[in-house]
Amino acid sequence: MAFSADERLYLGAEAEVWRGTWMGQPAVRKQRRLRSWRHPDLDDRLGRRRMLAEARLMVRLYKSGLNIPVLYDCDIKEQQLVMSNVPGRPLIELLNDDSIDDVTMMKHLQSAGYSIRMLHRQAIVHGDLSTNNIMITPSGEAVLIDFGLAKIEFETELYGIDLHVLFEILGASHPHRENAMEAVLQGYKQCEQDLGTAEKTPGGDPVCMEDVIERFDLIRTRVRYHG
Ligand SMILES: Nc1ncnc2c1ncn2[C@@H]1O[C@H](COP(=O)(O)OP(=O)(O)OP(=O)(O)O)[C@@H](O)[C@H]1O
Ligand SMILES: [Mg+2]
Repeated sequence: MAFSADERLYLGAEAEVWRGTWMGQPAVRKQRRLRSWRHPDLDDRLGRRRMLAEARLMVRLYKSGLNIPVLYDCDIKEQQLVMSNVPGRPLIELLNDDSIDDVTMMKHLQSAGYSIRMLHRQAIVHGDLSTNNIMITPSGEAVLIDFGLAKIEFETELYGIDLHVLFEILGASHPHRENAMEAVLQGYKQCEQDLGTAEKTPGGDPVCMEDVIERFDLIRTRVRYHG
């Protein structure tokens, strides 16, 4: 792989991420790590399958015009993906940075909602919408990353859950940022207002925006009353 590594960005349970260059371009390499508690053969097969799915979805989304990292290279055997480096900082860092005022933060959160709807309009659920997986570029645009659990889906519930995951993280980890989820939902709605009803995808009609929001409200109430 024509990747040369400069600095390690992240060491997680499932992945190690390095920043560097690929053919002279700023790039990031994501290397899946072995899960020692699983049988090595099973781990290998599962890991490869997931990485292949991640790579496929990245190509599909990029071709649809979404602002996500560009996949530069992919070595399924070695379980490595190389992609463009998204400049900026993850949303989690900005939410924890008290020097960022509320108005700016609301714009970032709206932008996150906008990008989430862009993804959902492609009939793809993210599956892991944490504030780590949303990058905010220096110009204030939200770029979703980490499609390791993303899937093509047509069930409203799964889209509601996508939003609910983010809602729970915002409430639990950043309670001082009031109305954070409202800002996300504003952006989510704005996207549909700007672009009109989502077009049919190769697999069918994406779940409509109003249905997702309604389901999210339902899940929120369900969780509040039944834990
Ligand atoms: N294309 C990218 N540009 C800039 N930073 C990135 C990029 N991809 C990943 N990162 C950074 O690396 C971190 C981890 O990457 P990623 O979210 O893809 O791994 P992960 O699948 O969540 O790993 P784990 O499952 O072990 O938590 C991100 O939160 C982000 O800070
Ligand atoms: Mg992640």
